Amino acid sequence: MGNCLGSSAKVDTAQSSHVTYASGVSKVSSRTSRSSAPSTLTIPSFSEESNSSSLPTPRTEGEILSSPNLKPFSFAELKNATRNFRPDSLLGEGGFGFVFKGWIDENTFTAAKPGSGMVVAVKKLKPEGFQGHKEWLTEVNYLGQLHHPNLVKLIGYCLEGENRLLVYEFMPKGSLENHLFRRGPQPLSWAVRMKVAIGAARGLSFLHDAKSQVIYRDFKASNILLDADFNAKLSDFGLAKAGPTGDRTHVSTQVMGTHGYAAPEYVATGRLTAKSDVYSFGVVLLELLSGRRAVDKTKVGVEQNLVDWAKPYLGDKRKLFRIMDTKLEGQYPQKGAYTAATLAMQCLNNEAKLRPKMADVLATLEQLEAPKNSAALPQPEQHLFSVTHRKSPMRQHRSSLNPPPSASPLRSHRQSPRVH
Ligand SMILES: Nc1ncnc2c1ncn2[C@@H]1O[C@H](COP(=O)(O)OP(=O)(O)OP(=O)(O)O)[C@@H](O)[C@H]1O
Ligand SMILES: [Mg+2]
Repeated sequence: MGNCLGSSAKVDTAQSSHVTYASGVSKVSSRTSRSSAPSTLTIPSFSEESNSSSLPTPRTEGEILSSPNLKPFSFAELKNATRNFRPDSLLGEGGFGFVFKGWIDENTFTAAKPGSGMVVAVKKLKPEGFQGHKEWLTEVNYLGQLHHPNLVKLIGYCLEGENRLLVYEFMPKGSLENHLFRRGPQPLSWAVRMKVAIGAARGLSFLHDAKSQVIYRDFKASNILLDADFNAKLSDFGLAKAGPTGDRTHVSTQVMGTHGYAAPEYVATGRLTAKSDVYSFGVVLLELLSGRRAVDKTKVGVEQNLVDWAKPYLGDKRKLFRIMDTKLEGQYPQKGAYTAATLAMQCLNNEAKLRPKMADVLATLEQLEAPKNSAALPQPEQHLFSVTHRKSPMRQHRSSLNPPPSASPLRSHRQSPRVH
């Protein structure tokens, strides 16, 4: 099957009349099974410095798969590492497949006995044909080259017959989505929410900076993974795209992403810029403030869409408490919450150009963490509101904005059940 990496599919939605150009099309060689892995492999430590120049694009499939940073695993190795993909090793499920916990030897990267060696997360893609392969390869391409403390580390992959797997560092606290919306875990404190926002903003700023120039395109709570100390790392680079180059202002592309997070102008026109990610960041910031999902079909009317519901309160100091997460029980600094809400509002500006850059978003959030603010954190603030009746939010409905040619990009939601 022919395949293009770094190219975009034709926009073929009702809303978009743009003809997509391929920003550096590379013909990808036919799929090859690469199970002849070296027995040892060194993963370079995270470094922003290592990306001293822009990512070389485009690369052929062969080039992508021979990245020196990535270990090619055989299917048998990953079967052993996950105890034959046993259900009790299941960490979660997303739209593209299941994620299992596995163990590998930290030196040789061969399968290790459960409980010994290094823990990894193994994502096993459902056989999804062309789109699945393209996104799998895009992820290998980007994570094979980009290294940063706020991006999840890809250790290796497996491409064997129809099997496509990805092996990541294990993130012990799972996704932000689990913590924010699911019953059970301790509610996240204000300080942890801001820490997560800052980590995620660092990851996005790194992607957007002049060296990388990557648009992430799928920024959402389920793609923000958390380590043991709640350091945030972005995962899922299957939709990432090279940003516009030269005097181009945007790239035109098929509308992909997740309902509720995607920027309105991108959904309407397929024109993608780094500011589309900034919008999605604003949505996640709102989720952190409110504890509500971007889209919640269990609610009625305007409350189904978090942005529509929350926007009128964001710029009003006296009304802001109405949208704040009741699970915080008032334990947040009013000034800090107002600053974060104002920032969210700026990120959610319908005019993409007026949204701040991620570097500015990060600077504002870092100010919130500055000592003078954090000193005030332990003191409970005045309980500003009466506890509202709030049902625990149901599972999130998510959709890939990846419609069949004639459908609206905002088609029905994709249910993604998960197991933890
Ligand atoms: N590296 C990892 N370490 C620990 N858990 C992980 C890791 N990667 C994924 N998971 C778990 O698996 C779940 C599913 O992840 P996955 O990326 O497949 O789907 P998703 O992000 O929920 O949805 P989507 O398919 O839309 O991206 C995550 O929510 C998380 O709980
Ligand atoms: Mg994901």
